[in-house]
Amino acid sequence: MVNEKQNPPPDDRHRIATTDDIEVSTYLEIAREIGGEQPAATVEGVSGAEREAIVVLDFGSQYNLLIARRVRESQVYCELMPHDTPWEKIAPLNPKGFILSGGPASVYAKDAPLAPAYVYESGLPVLGICYGMQVITKQLGGQVAPGTKREYGHAVLHINDPDSPLFSELPESTTVWMSHGDKIEEMPPGFAPIAATENSPYAVIGNGKNIFGLQFHPEVAHTPGGRTILKNFVYKICGCRGNWTIGSFVAESMARIREQVGKGKVINALSGGVDSSVVATLIHRAIGDQLTCIFVNNGLLRREEAERTLAVFKQNLGMNIIYVDASDRFLNRLKGVTDPEAKRKIIGEEFIHIFEEEASRIGRVDFLAQGTLYPDVIESVSSVSTASAKIKSHHNVGGLPARMTLSLLEPLRYLFKDEVRLVGAELGLPEEMVWRQPFPGPGLAIRCIGEVTREKLEILRAADFILMNEIKKANLYRQLWQSFCVLTDVRSVGVMGDFRTYGYLAAIRAVTSDDAMTADWARLPYDLLARISNRIVNEVDGINRVVYDITSKPPSTIEWE
Ligand code: XMP
Repeated sequence: MVNEKQNPPPDDRHRIATTDDIEVSTYLEIAREIGGEQPAATVEGVSGAEREAIVVLDFGSQYNLLIARRVRESQVYCELMPHDTPWEKIAPLNPKGFILSGGPASVYAKDAPLAPAYVYESGLPVLGICYGMQVITKQLGGQVAPGTKREYGHAVLHINDPDSPLFSELPESTTVWMSHGDKIEEMPPGFAPIAATENSPYAVIGNGKNIFGLQFHPEVAHTPGGRTILKNFVYKICGCRGNWTIGSFVAESMARIREQVGKGKVINALSGGVDSSVVATLIHRAIGDQLTCIFVNNGLLRREEAERTLAVFKQNLGMNIIYVDASDRFLNRLKGVTDPEAKRKIIGEEFIHIFEEEASRIGRVDFLAQGTLYPDVIESVSSVSTASAKIKSHHNVGGLPARMTLSLLEPLRYLFKDEVRLVGAELGLPEEMVWRQPFPGPGLAIRCIGEVTREKLEILRAADFILMNEIKKANLYRQLWQSFCVLTDVRSVGVMGDFRTYGYLAAIRAVTSDDAMTADWARLPYDLLARISNRIVNEVDGINRVVYDITSKPPSTIEWE
């Protein structure tokens, strides 16, 4: 069996918070139900719906994005804002409550980040989590002290006040996940402890006026009742109605695109990957032929990839697409190049040249559409340094033409990856596209070790096609973050029939991951591996040996180059 959740390192402090401590299965199910259907959403469907949002003020915890995810899971729109965001920026969201996040600082340290006055003056409910709870304590007149020892890991929470709406539908005791050094020594006036653990008499405090503090992290999977607590806060305490759905997102987003673009023209670099495909489809739905997509075939795509992508977008969705077969240009420039970073650089540069050439032929263009996602946005605006959240940067094809003086259109900038897939399903994109595994911008060039030649690319394509085919037949495609073949530069001796062979060594790479930051090699069944290896060696001329990569990331990376 494939091990779905093998990758978390033992110490969660070093883990990146992503969408997926959470069970994406709910989402997968919804998406399966709507997958392939024609779009249900219309602008009329949500017009007049009253906006409501929960605002998470970011004090730098690595779990912050998860808080936003959890709230959105309960169909309430949620945004993470720097902890010092001015009220004018928050008011348009029509916040119904605030969550003050955890964070690495100590409230008694000099210059410790605190919450703006409007949080308390607004009269809106406030939920402080870990550091956020200490912020409330300090600002409302209590005392926080350094803990004598750090409390880290599971604890049992005993609820003292089962009537508190925060604990609705929770058992009287439940496991929670602690991760804190400082602790509350004296509660602010008017507060009382409403739940406790053995080491934390003030594990949950409340003032009877909808201000709460939690010492533990409700957003992580290790707090099984955490989802219920957040849901209770959002619905029972903040009074949200829950009108944020993928359908309403699509409708609102289309309306916003129309408003922003007006009669302008938009271009988009289509790669066939999920993000660019969803961006293109969403914008096309909104403004039709005002959008032109440029699809550059760099000669480094997998078998049938360009044809299939074009078929979906041109034939089925009727989009304006400029297809550029630039294989020769890329492959000529890659001749003799063996260094992985040099390959990336050449491919990135060539892509910009081609994209700009094609764009200039269209005439006047006003907007460049990009598939920027929420985690990228958060990374660039986070107000508190979260070193652990830095994501390795790659030369992605989407975001390159910085010197083009176009306004950016980024309709997915508030979505998480799995929400993007749901939008794709909602828009009626084929399952194959919606659930596609990530594929790197430099394509097969970084899976063809050493020099990239047409001959080696053909061999790699044939092997990769077999691998994909078998993985899909075994129903493992979606469980794997990525699965692919690498053509090494090693040749070895073999024997086929009565003949000696001297062929390439191919490697199979299949990993499970939540976010590509860490990954584990997938425990693929032996008979599946055997079938893949047999088929590759028998059907692909040029490969006579197959190995399976059994290293995790770290210390390896997912790609070999
Ligand atoms: P690594 O190999 O660093 O990859 O573990 C992490 C994720 O990033 C993808 N990747 C790239 N994507 N341009 C891209 O667009 C690149 O140069 C690149 N290098 C790696 C990789 O496939 C995996 O999903």
